[in-house]
Amino acid sequence: MSHFWSKVVHGLTPYVPGEQPKLPNLVKLNTNESPYGPSRLVLEALRAEVGDTLRLYPDPGSDGLRAAIAARHSLTPAQVFVGNGSDEVLAHVFQALLKHDAPVLFPDITYSFYPVYCALYEIAYEPVPLTSNFELDVRDYRRPNGGIIFPNPNAPTGRLVSLVDIEELLKANTTSVVVIDEAYVDFGGESCVPLINQYPQLLVTHTLSKSRALAGLRVGYATGHPLLIEALNRVKDSFNSYPLDRFAQAGASAAMADEHYYAAMCRKVIASKATLVASMEALGFKVLPSAANFIFARFPGRDGADLAAQLRERGIVVRHFKNPARISPFLRITIGTDEQCAGLVDALREIVYTNLNK
Ligand SMILES: Cc1ncc(COP(=O)(O)O)c(C=O)c1O
Repeated sequence: MSHFWSKVVHGLTPYVPGEQPKLPNLVKLNTNESPYGPSRLVLEALRAEVGDTLRLYPDPGSDGLRAAIAARHSLTPAQVFVGNGSDEVLAHVFQALLKHDAPVLFPDITYSFYPVYCALYEIAYEPVPLTSNFELDVRDYRRPNGGIIFPNPNAPTGRLVSLVDIEELLKANTTSVVVIDEAYVDFGGESCVPLINQYPQLLVTHTLSKSRALAGLRVGYATGHPLLIEALNRVKDSFNSYPLDRFAQAGASAAMADEHYYAAMCRKVIASKATLVASMEALGFKVLPSAANFIFARFPGRDGADLAAQLRERGIVVRHFKNPARISPFLRITIGTDEQCAGLVDALREIVYTNLNK
């Protein structure tokens, strides 16, 4: 606390990102990164950027990258906005499109950055409870609002809302923006990007941090009607004209073009997830159905924080959320390589059964 701070800073409770451990050799299953490296084409594109041109500012409009994203989704570049990670894109979305008189609606259990943006930009919000099975029922969103946002699949639950239900929501909610955060859609969901041509109130955000294995490059994007994109550009150009450096633009463009490699990596992750879920269920864990590259699981009668701490003692880092209380028994576990998943299952077996027999 300091009297130099503005009123809004006094009131902030910042987002706490998952740990990026400094210790070597930890198995890192806590922030939903890809266990596989980026495409070879990405690495070549990054190397090609090392040189004299680094003295020049990058393209402020990221035109090449927006064209590559537009081509990948059969859109026009005017329907695409890019930012320094989808976190930055989302921050601009809250300020540009979700700050109205009525409260923003999002699930009570969801990406915990959303309430942080609301506090930062002084936006009222109303959490909408998930069902007892941690499902999102779109009918619960039929109420006055200044906008609606949720991840699909949701995080940290991994549960998916169908495209049919999203269309039902869009038909019922035409006067405020509906944002679908598709950070994890490539691992088993169906993208609603094609719907943006039909619904001018729909904005869909994506990240290159998960399925494109580029969390270290910091690139995310939004697709929507050109008027929604214009609002985001107005905020961006009032904040930072050059959010994406030359490496980010070149590497991300190459990633968007190598669909073949990334589709294969997603298939590997999906197969590993099926094996991991089966092994954990055989141990007695309850695992929610997941369309993401992580699972949300609990062991009946065991404390989630304690399980996470015991895994860490064995060199495996997973994510645990204390709040809200109804998710505190759960662990959110990123799908690693098959070898990492097998190590996790061995460690869980030891933790759960050794301690039971004590
Ligand atoms: C649901 C969701 N949206 C957005 C993000 C932000 O991703 P990034 O800023 O790396 O693009 C995350 C990160 O974990 C996430 O879980």
